[in-house]
Amino acid sequence: MTYRTTRRTFLTTTTAIAAGSLLPRRSFAGLSIEKFRTAHVGVGGMGGSDLNSIASHSSVEVAAICDVDANTLAAIQKKFPAAKAFKDFREMISSMEDKIDGVVVSTPDHTHAPAAITAMNAGKPVYCQKPLTHEVFEARQMRRLAEQKRLATQMGVQIHSHAVYRRAVQMIQSGVIGKVSEVHAWSNKNWGYDGGAFGNVQEPPQHLDWNRWLGTAPERPFVPKVYHPGNWRKIVDFGTGTLGDMGVHIFDTPYAALELTAPLSAKTICREPNNIGHPEKNIVEYEFPGTQHTTDTMLWKWYDGAFAPPQPADVGLSQETKLPGQGSLFIGEGGQMLLPHIGEAVLFPQVKFADYQRPNVAQNDHYHQWIEACMGNGRTSASFSYGGPLTEALLLGVVANRFPNETLNWDAENLTVTNLKEANDLLRRDYRSGFEVVGL
Ligand SMILES: NC(=O)c1ccc[n+]([C@@H]2O[C@H](COP(=O)([O-])OP(=O)(O)OC[C@H]3O[C@@H](n4cnc5c(N)ncnc54)[C@H](O)[C@@H]3O)[C@@H](O)[C@H]2O)c1
Repeated sequence: MTYRTTRRTFLTTTTAIAAGSLLPRRSFAGLSIEKFRTAHVGVGGMGGSDLNSIASHSSVEVAAICDVDANTLAAIQKKFPAAKAFKDFREMISSMEDKIDGVVVSTPDHTHAPAAITAMNAGKPVYCQKPLTHEVFEARQMRRLAEQKRLATQMGVQIHSHAVYRRAVQMIQSGVIGKVSEVHAWSNKNWGYDGGAFGNVQEPPQHLDWNRWLGTAPERPFVPKVYHPGNWRKIVDFGTGTLGDMGVHIFDTPYAALELTAPLSAKTICREPNNIGHPEKNIVEYEFPGTQHTTDTMLWKWYDGAFAPPQPADVGLSQETKLPGQGSLFIGEGGQMLLPHIGEAVLFPQVKFADYQRPNVAQNDHYHQWIEACMGNGRTSASFSYGGPLTEALLLGVVANRFPNETLNWDAENLTVTNLKEANDLLRRDYRSGFEVVGL
């Protein structure tokens, strides 16, 4: 039997089902939906790629686009002439409320939560880039609101849906290397800045709305090439350094495979804070409570910049082993699994696993999965219920890099560092006047 439904009914019912299997999925089979109308916040850089991937779904109609850079907006509008263009996402969401069905957020990290929460406050499902947020508190609120409103959400860790990583999850969960006691993960990228205050302050270019680019973050004078585009990820007010940026991809598979929850503690080894840029190289050690796939507690260790990759001998491999520039290593009771970023897993000792048959795993389309979930078909694999806690864990390490060599003991339930009061001040910040958001 085929049901035809109004758009309002469709959204209420599908968002309920997509969030978490409260109702059996078959109740919605056969819904006849014409178009899923999307609105996009940030359409340059990764936002352009997100837009193309979302628009490649046959049910999608790109209804609205928003960017604070008028040059970027104009270029994208040429490709999507029917989309209404905005420079303020608040105006886009309020004026298009009845004309959009879902919102995609691809801005710099500090604007993720403000834009996504504004969209969810309006009842819209959200696809949001990684890391989910800039602040620990924001990640908690993103998860809460998505669950409370039962909205279909997806964090932009697209490799989560890739066959290689889905296979790695299955391998670990099948117990191929036994219970895991340590995960080492690293990226040799350097999204940090160890220098002093920036010179070369200039008027922002005409095409850039600097006030809206800053959004909720503290007021800063414009300096070319330091913030926009892309380099904001090195700066503490806007980005989350290499750990937040690459760590969310590289820790994604261990976090999912081991079904981790919140860490018990985090400690960073890095230079003293300069309160401008993230440290250019970090080692971060987390302790996690045990799960069915791990030993009683588990060490999660991160290395970035010139600290990456670790020395093979220090992580239990022969010194001749070639480690990739980015990746992770699971250390189990019965072997190790190296997972390059990006590539197939390698099991050690190689002789022991020479005849190992890898599971066949299908690949998903991470973007289409979200659209399908919004339309009542299945669920997303990296909803905010998953991406929120993963982001909280990573951001605790980012907070720890402001207190080098101090172990931060974490009470996740109460969102509190129990042994270092000053660290709690960095879990949440006041938004700039004029950019407040209900729920943040
Ligand atoms: N999943 C991935 O593989 C992947 C890869 C790269 C980047 N990312 C993520 O994508 C996001 C964007 O990164 P990027 O490298 O493309 O940055 P970028 O600076 O190159 O692009 C950001 C875009 O957002 C626009 N923008 C900034 N503030 C805005 C606002 N308030 N409203 C509307 N538009 C705004 C900018 O003008 C620009 O067009 C980040 O969260 C990053 O972590 C993800």
